[in-house]
Amino acid sequence: MPKRRAAITAVGHFVPETILSNADLEKMVDTTDEWIRTRTGISERRILKDGATSDLGAAAVRDLLSKRGIGPDEIDMIIVATVTPDMFFPSTACLIQEKVGAKKAWGFDVSAACSGFLFALMTGAQFIENGSYKRVVVVGADKMSSITDYTDRNNCILFGDASAAVLLEPSDDENGGIIDHILRCDGSGERYLNMRGGGSLNPASHETVDKGMHYLFQDGKSVFKVAVKGMADVSAEIVERNGLTGAQVDWLVPHQANLRIIDATAERMGLEPSKVMININKYGNTTAATIPLCLSEWWMDGKLRKGQTLVLAAFGAGYTWGSVLMRWTAGNRG
Ligand code: COA
Repeated sequence: MPKRRAAITAVGHFVPETILSNADLEKMVDTTDEWIRTRTGISERRILKDGATSDLGAAAVRDLLSKRGIGPDEIDMIIVATVTPDMFFPSTACLIQEKVGAKKAWGFDVSAACSGFLFALMTGAQFIENGSYKRVVVVGADKMSSITDYTDRNNCILFGDASAAVLLEPSDDENGGIIDHILRCDGSGERYLNMRGGGSLNPASHETVDKGMHYLFQDGKSVFKVAVKGMADVSAEIVERNGLTGAQVDWLVPHQANLRIIDATAERMGLEPSKVMININKYGNTTAATIPLCLSEWWMDGKLRKGQTLVLAAFGAGYTWGSVLMRWTAGNRG
């Protein structure tokens, strides 16, 4: 009997209205639009003024449900990838479950930073593949503005707020859905990208706040070197080990941290730039949301079509990184 595959059958997303442009940042820190665009590819990002990550996530799930034409009580499970949960507990998955009225669903959060969506996607896929559930919602949502220090020019230019969600269901096409994955982590990267304040290591205190330990810290140059290699390695490996060439890949869906990292990954895979999903210019790095946000926009624009072959790739704090190979099965839109 062929293996039961999990497939994405619908995608939804939400981006807040408020735009923080490079010109706005020029007024806040010592930077220029030119520096930001040439070093990162970012022109603007979105900021959630009121509300928290669960509000971002719930909006994406509502959008997803309306596109699939099902009700919230038809969801079996909600998995949320985030590094900006509303609070340590309860999980953001519980809060989204309540907000959307998914009365029959259970769920939990996954912490894998910028690789969070891929880690959560493969976790959800297991429950579909083993026949436990029929409808698993995987959310990538982050309110990065809540942990960004807007006096630190090295990092405040990079991040934005957004969410996106996918619905996983058993594939009715035996060649469709998620085909393969490579997921990795290396905790020795902790010192280069972290948020040390507020956890059990450094519980919240006046001192942790005074030292800015509740903000994201990144040694960008060190992370950049490892990210370029990590993302390119797993993207090339997943293509090769499935007997494919770059020519047979329709879309690379990369985590949007830096345009130069994305370009290097595409080049290593032998992909034309026209086959790479890029929206970092509009949203910056929205951490767990970047990959499903691309899927949602490209699907709604009618550019992501049934039967196409996709490689999803990410690199983030941990370090964590990985790639997923899939064939798109959701009905065409746009
Ligand atoms: N505006 C102007 N100058 C800036 C600046 C800004 N916003 N931020 C930093 N600079 C300065 C630096 O201070 C440095 O000056 P110096 O040489 O006098 O010290 C100079 O620009 C170059 O900085 P550098 O860190 O070498 O830039 P970079 O080319 O490495 O780009 C990042 C910085 C953060 C954009 C890049 O390192 C990056 O994208 N890192 C990885 C991000 C990532 O993938 N994270 C993982 C997932 S979240």
